[in-house]
Amino acid sequence: MVRRQTANLLLVGSIPTGASRGFHNFRTGSPLLAPTAIAQAKSAADEFVAHLRDTEFARLDRAGLAYVDYTGSALYAERQVRSHADLLEKSVFGNPHSESGSSQASTTIIDNARVMLLEFLDASPDDYVVCFTANASAAIKLIAESFQFSSEGSLLLSADNHNSMNGIREFALRGGSPVRYLPLDDELRLREPERFLREAVAPGQNLFGFPAQSNFSGVKHPLGLISTAHDLGYTVLLDAAAFVPANQLSLSEWPADFVALSMYKIFGLPTGVGALVARRDSLTRLRRPWFAGGTVEYVSVQNRTHLLRAGETGFEDGTPAFLNIAALEPGFDFIAEVGLARINTHVMSLTGELLDRLQSLHHDDGRPAVRIYGPSNLRARGATVVFNVIGSNGRVVPHQEVERKARDAGVVIRAGCFCNPGASEAAFGFPAEAAARCFGAAAEQGFSIERFGSCMGEKFAVGAVRASPGLATNLRDIERVIAVINGCH
Ligand SMILES: Cc1ncc(COP(=O)(O)O)c(C=O)c1O
Repeated sequence: MVRRQTANLLLVGSIPTGASRGFHNFRTGSPLLAPTAIAQAKSAADEFVAHLRDTEFARLDRAGLAYVDYTGSALYAERQVRSHADLLEKSVFGNPHSESGSSQASTTIIDNARVMLLEFLDASPDDYVVCFTANASAAIKLIAESFQFSSEGSLLLSADNHNSMNGIREFALRGGSPVRYLPLDDELRLREPERFLREAVAPGQNLFGFPAQSNFSGVKHPLGLISTAHDLGYTVLLDAAAFVPANQLSLSEWPADFVALSMYKIFGLPTGVGALVARRDSLTRLRRPWFAGGTVEYVSVQNRTHLLRAGETGFEDGTPAFLNIAALEPGFDFIAEVGLARINTHVMSLTGELLDRLQSLHHDDGRPAVRIYGPSNLRARGATVVFNVIGSNGRVVPHQEVERKARDAGVVIRAGCFCNPGASEAAFGFPAEAAARCFGAAAEQGFSIERFGSCMGEKFAVGAVRASPGLATNLRDIERVIAVINGCH
C-alpha cells in the first residue's frame, strides 16, 4: 500500500497553495502581504469560488462529477446559458451579410464581440483585428495556408506544440520552406530558444509558432521570445488557447503578429467559435489561397476575377456563427465579474495541492508512485499537470487503466498524448529511430496506440494522464483525483 510523504515543493515566483506559504513577488520571491492579510484575502477568495460552485456549477455535484479537465474545455456558468437563451428568445437575428434590421442586429452582435475580445487581450483596435473562426485550429490554418512560404524562408516551431500548430509544416514543405523545431529540455521548457531562432532564420519570410502555455505540461514559454523573433525578422504566431483561460495576455505588451484561441476554453460556451487575432499590418502580408462567400468585394465569373475584402472579413469564410457569437458577451461578462486574477489564484492554488499530493504518493519501499512530466513545482507554469502512475513493479500503469478508473469514479481527467507529439516524445524519452520503426510497424497492421506501445516495449510510456483544474474545480475534486491514483498502483 501507499505511504503519504510530505513533498517539499519549490515555490519561487508562484502563487501559494496555502495560507502558510504566503503570496510572493513573481520575480524576487519575497512576500507581498503579511501572513494574516494573506489568510483573510485567501479565505474571501475561497468563499467566493465555493459560492460559484454552488450556484453556477451546481450540475457538477448533482451529477457527482469532479471536473478536472479544463485544458480540454472550460465549463460554462449557468447564468451564461440563461443570458444567451434570453437574448435569442427576445431577438430576431438574420444572416449578417445583408442590410435588413435583423441582419444588422447580427452584425452588431459580432462587432461588439470583436471589441470585447480585443479588450480581453489588451489589444488596441488601431493595431489588431479579430477574425472569427470555428476554433483555434481553424485560426492556425488561416495562417498556414496564407503565409508566403518559399525556399527563401523558413518555419520554426517549438517541439512543444499542439498538432494544430504542427500541421502548418505541411504547407511550409509544400511551399519549399525548411521546417525546424526548437527542442525541449528535461523540464519540457524550450532549450536555448534564442540560439535556435538565430540559426534558423532565412533571408525570405520566416514564421515562428509557439504556445504561450503548453497543453501537455502546463509550461509557460517566455513571451519575450516574441520581440526576440521580431528583431530577427520572424512573423510570430502565438497559440494562446491554453494560456488565456487563466492568464491575462496583453498584446500591447507582447505584440505577436497572430494569436489563435478557442472561446470554449475560456468560458465553456459557445463551442464552434474561435478567433485569429491579427495585427493589421501583418494581415496584409498574407495571401489567401481562395475566396468564399463573405470574404469578397466582388467576384466575376465571366472575367474570372475577384477582390478580397480588406481586413478581418477577408478571412471569415461563409456565414459567421452569429447565434453562437451572441453567447460571447455573457461569457466575457462572467469572466470579468469573477476576475482573471482570481481565477488564476484559484487554479494555481489547486495545482499546487495536486502537485504536492501526487508527489507525496510513495510505495512501501519509498519509491515514488507517480512520475510528473514537466515542472514539478509552480514556477512559470499553468494549471495543467501531466503524469504517469508507477506500479510497485516499477512499471508505468497504462494510462488507459487510470482513465477507466477515473471514469468509474466520476472523475473527469484525460489520458493519451493530448495532440502534442513533440512534448510527448521528449517526456517519454523516445529514441527517434525506434519510434519511427514502431510507427511504421503499427501502421502496417492498422495503427493503434496499443500496437505502437507493444513495439516500443515496456520501458517506454506511450501516453500519460492529465489533470487540469479550473474555476469550478475544488479541493475535494483534487482529493478524488488522488483517490483514483491511489487505487491504481
Ligand atoms: C494549446 C492548444 N492549441 C490548440 C488547440 C486546438 O484547439 P481547438 O481544438 O479548439 O481547435 C488546443 C486544444 O486543446 C490547445 O490546447
